[in-house]
Amino acid sequence: MAQLWGGRFTKETDKLVYNFNASISFDQKFYEQDIRGSIAHVKMLAKQGVIQESERDQIISGLESIREDVKNGTLEITSEYEDIHSFVEANLIDRIGDAGKKLHTGRSRNDQVALDMKLYIRDEVKEIDGLVKELLKAIEKIMEENLHTYMPGFTHLQKAQPITLAHHMGAYFEMFRRDRGRLYDIYERMNYCPLGSGALAGTTYPLDRVYTAKLLDFYGPTMNSMDSVADRDYLIELLSAMSTIMMHLSRFSEEIIIWNTNEYRFVEIDDAYSTGSSIMPQKKNPDIAELVRGKTGRVYAALTSILTTMKGLPLAYNKDMQEDKELSFDAIDTVKGCLALFTGMISTMKFRKDVMEASAKNGFTNATDAADYLVGKGVPFRDAHGIVGQLVLYCIDQNISLDEMSLEAYQKISPVFDQDIYEAISMKTCVEKRTTIGAPGPEAMEHVIAFNQEYLKNK
Ligand code: ARG
Repeated sequence: MAQLWGGRFTKETDKLVYNFNASISFDQKFYEQDIRGSIAHVKMLAKQGVIQESERDQIISGLESIREDVKNGTLEITSEYEDIHSFVEANLIDRIGDAGKKLHTGRSRNDQVALDMKLYIRDEVKEIDGLVKELLKAIEKIMEENLHTYMPGFTHLQKAQPITLAHHMGAYFEMFRRDRGRLYDIYERMNYCPLGSGALAGTTYPLDRVYTAKLLDFYGPTMNSMDSVADRDYLIELLSAMSTIMMHLSRFSEEIIIWNTNEYRFVEIDDAYSTGSSIMPQKKNPDIAELVRGKTGRVYAALTSILTTMKGLPLAYNKDMQEDKELSFDAIDTVKGCLALFTGMISTMKFRKDVMEASAKNGFTNATDAADYLVGKGVPFRDAHGIVGQLVLYCIDQNISLDEMSLEAYQKISPVFDQDIYEAISMKTCVEKRTTIGAPGPEAMEHVIAFNQEYLKNK
């Protein structure tokens, strides 16, 4: 048990208490960020004349050697230390002696952990953003290839109107584009440096907080030292944005699971992304999509957990805040894993265009267009709606589609119908006539695709 704060104590910490209090098993995840922050801190201390330049150099090379040794596995992070901050400092003192004891001058673990957490989350925001962008590229590719792939669009999971696969995929493009917007906002809001806030009230050393902020690529220092050590808003925002990403992935997964069923057969998931059954030889299961859908729960759990942890905390730092790590780290790893796998799955998935198109043709997805045809001939929409309802009833009875009805049958229900009804309700017309902004018609979709391409190039 190696502790930084033994001086005031006359007894050893109880072993159970030590273990309960320790965070090294999980905060070792940000050893790199901890060292990065410490290097910036000592550079600033030397610049301000708080430590010697020679001490600064010793500390920096000591920290760099620790970073190197942890990275290549020669230095193991063990539970002998309370947390990653203690581990790094103790190792530094072991390596360079007295100069190492000056590292923590003008700093508290409260502003240190606030900084580490921010650096870590900031890195993760960028990484997650990159993964969402990869997913967007995969979606965009499917869109480009399927401008004319007809499929049924659903409401209430009932066939509604014909759309294209490009249009359906375009809906997910929008969702994940918004997700990137949320990540961007988080980055902008969080990118202020808490280092130099001390335990809660700043310090009496002449710290240059603007300088450390700049060294660490922050826009500037945070403006209130108590808030700096007590703020985890950015983490809550990230967990919220990740929950939304997972909600989107989960909806998408649900659709793929449905589309992959024997009943739909719209898609075939690649063998590399499917699994079999131990008992039923015929099975090829969409486990990856199911797991993505399932793992959404644990990401939501991390959000609920941190919100609950923070809600009763008086200012400033409280040890409760150490609970900000385990579930968040797990949630971040979960989201990154899901994004990467999901992108791989949809990039290799086969779309059965013939099945989709055949499905769009039955189920009366062109009924609205039949009504619009009548409106075009001067029938008020409400009457047209009723007339087409009768057509549908007739077709259900005859077990045929609207396209298969004879003109006599049409005219028996309404004399307004003419030969041009067949053209008016063809799949091609139904889809391609829908050219308003955001609609599935290829003409409209081409604009969207060009816009998306531009977006992917610039952002
Ligand atoms: N392991 C602690 C955490 O994660 C570090 C900060 C400790 N500060 C303190 N005053 N005990 O929050």
